[in-house]
Amino acid sequence: MHLTAEEEELLSSDNETVAKCMEILVAIGEIYGADRLIAIRSAQISGVSYDNIGDTGLEWLEGLNARVKVPAYVNPAGMDVERWQEMGIDAEFYSKQMRVLKALQRIGAELSLTCTPYYLQTPSFGDHLAWAESSAVCYANSVVGARTNRESGITAIAAAIIGKTPRYGLHVKENRAPTIYVRVKSPDFNASVLGYVLGEEVSGEIPLISLPRRVTEDELKQMGAAMAAKGNTALFHVEGVTPESGDFERPKERLEIDAAEINFSSEGCTPDLIALGCPHLSSEELREIFEIASRFTHAKARKEVWLFTSRKVYGESGEIIKKLERMGFKVFCDTCMVVSPSTSRYECVMVNSGKALTYLPKLRGVKVIFGSIKECIGRAFSDD
Ligand code: F3S
Repeated sequence: MHLTAEEEELLSSDNETVAKCMEILVAIGEIYGADRLIAIRSAQISGVSYDNIGDTGLEWLEGLNARVKVPAYVNPAGMDVERWQEMGIDAEFYSKQMRVLKALQRIGAELSLTCTPYYLQTPSFGDHLAWAESSAVCYANSVVGARTNRESGITAIAAAIIGKTPRYGLHVKENRAPTIYVRVKSPDFNASVLGYVLGEEVSGEIPLISLPRRVTEDELKQMGAAMAAKGNTALFHVEGVTPESGDFERPKERLEIDAAEINFSSEGCTPDLIALGCPHLSSEELREIFEIASRFTHAKARKEVWLFTSRKVYGESGEIIKKLERMGFKVFCDTCMVVSPSTSRYECVMVNSGKALTYLPKLRGVKVIFGSIKECIGRAFSDD
């Protein structure tokens, strides 16, 4: 991989953190056949929950001695930093989690604590990024047309400190071409369910998807998150919708999915928690939840309902959030049902997300059932 004189200097910098970050980027670049480093507009750092990284990760972060050169957003942590007690988080976890966040703040990262950094600052088409959160990577590549590989927490930090990333994979236009054409039949589909099924069917591919009806950006967000979780998808195209869908030839390999034949049961256990907001809810989704909930005549939800969003969207949706809280819903920021240990004390969690459906049993040891937003809210107001 070609390095400029300035990059060579960084590689032998007296600052151990800078030298190590360069070493990481060069090693990754060489493994994947990158020709050079390219400047990035932003980074997004995952692996932030103390529950995931433990003391080893915490000590590594506290040992960093350099500042980021580009905006570096931070993924959700293990708790709402203001309402952690309400989530049932103990004082020891709180103090370790706060040390993680302080260490990230010290290197100049932005404590956005969200997996939807595109609601804070939407990248532009063609921007090179080094993002780590799989659902955000899928959204940035597919819906925005920005370019990022699926980074790890460590490579995202290295890229943020150097301000560059190796040019390989999805940074290169020809590697963004679809490899399979998927025609979806029947307009009556749930985007999360479709993403979950597509993730299984086209794992490792870049699909060009033909959909029989218009979809919202929130649906694309849900579909991509599920595909990323189930099939490691980092980029998909939707014919006539996503910005690069017309840039390539239709692949010869084809698949047809009849959405009407997908049978996704919402039975299996009685939910003691209903958790929405994976990925973090947009203000439109919060409004949709409120509108559905308003149709129920009961004053309060009969089940525990947790909604997760970013602090920015929370700030922008103040009125709706107050009304939702009066209905008995709890709206948390900075965290989510998957990365917070607080979810583990429940037995059965109902979600509207294909990603949460994939990870909750593995990471939190809970049973999980699926429903649309409407079904989840309906269940919140029922006794079963
Ligand atoms: Fe975001 Fe947590 Fe889901 S980080 S995508 S809400 S698992």
